[in-house]
Amino acid sequence: MAPWARRLRITPWQGDPFVALVGPVRTGRMPNPADVERCLNALRRRGVDRAVTPALSPFEAEPFYQAGFELLERLHLLSVSLDLASSRPSRSPAKSVAGRRWHDRAVLEVDRRAFSGFWRFDQLALREAKTATPSRRFRVAKLDGRIVGYAVTGRAGRRGYLQRLAVDPTVQGRGVGSMLVHDSFDWLRRRGADETLVNTQESNAKALALYERLGYRRHHQGLLVLQWPGGP
Ligand SMILES: CC(C)(COP(=O)(O)OP(=O)(O)OC[C@H]1O[C@@H](n2cnc3c(N)ncnc32)[C@H](O)[C@@H]1OP(=O)(O)O)[C@@H](O)C(=O)NCCC(=O)NCCS
Repeated sequence: MAPWARRLRITPWQGDPFVALVGPVRTGRMPNPADVERCLNALRRRGVDRAVTPALSPFEAEPFYQAGFELLERLHLLSVSLDLASSRPSRSPAKSVAGRRWHDRAVLEVDRRAFSGFWRFDQLALREAKTATPSRRFRVAKLDGRIVGYAVTGRAGRRGYLQRLAVDPTVQGRGVGSMLVHDSFDWLRRRGADETLVNTQESNAKALALYERLGYRRHHQGLLVLQWPGGP
C-alpha cells in the first residue's frame, strides 16, 4: 500500500463514479500536502474529477488547501455537557422507535426530502454514520404509521456525536426534531457520556436554532468542508 493510502481514506460519493470523498485516516499520522497530491493523481487516473472532504478542523484542512482544495462550506461545531442539556421531554405528535435495517429505504427518502443535493445521504453514507463510533443509537420517528424523521447518535467513550438528524419537511416545526434530540441526550446519559457534539452548516438557521434551544453552544472555531474541482 502506498504511504499516502495509509493516511487518506477514499470512499465513493453519493454513488457518483466521478466524485470521491477524501478524508484523513484519523488514527494515524496526519497526511501532508504531497500525500494529498498523490491521492489526487491516483483519483485522476481513475477518471475521478471531483473530490470533497468530510468536516475538517482548520488544522486538518491545511494539507488539503496546500494541494489545491478550495472551501465548499463552513460548519459550526456545537457541543453541550449532558448535565446542562435540556431534559424536558418534548411534546410531539410522532413517536420514536428503534430504527432497523429495513427502515433504511424510508429513512433515506426522508433524508432526500430534508437535505439539498450535495448534503443528501446515500446508503453508504448512512452506513458510515451508523458505524463511525463503537456504539450507536438509530431512532426513527413515526407518525400515522409513516416514518417522518430519524436520528443517528454515536458514542465513543464519554463523548457523544449527533451524526445525523432529519425530519420530513411536511412535519417540521411540530416537535419531531426536538423529540429525536432529547432521545439522543437520554441515551447518552444512560450510557455514561458527559458531553455531545454536533456540526451543521453556518447557513442552517433552523438546525442552529433547535440545537441552541436545547442547550448546545457554538465553539469559537468551526469546521470546514473542502472540495477539489478536478480538471486538468
Ligand atoms: C433541523 C430539523 C431537524 C428540525 O426538525 P423539526 O422537527 O422541525 O424541529 P422542531 O419542530 O422540534 O423544532 C423546530 C421549531 O418548531 C417549534 N416547535 C417545536 N415543537 C413545536 C410544536 N409542538 N408545535 C409548533 N411548533 C413547535 C420550535 O419552537 C422550533 O422553533 P425554533 O427552531 O425557533 O426553536 C429539520 O428542520 C430538518 O430536518 N432540517 C433539514 C435537515 C437538517 O438540517 N438536519 C440537521 C442538520 S445538522
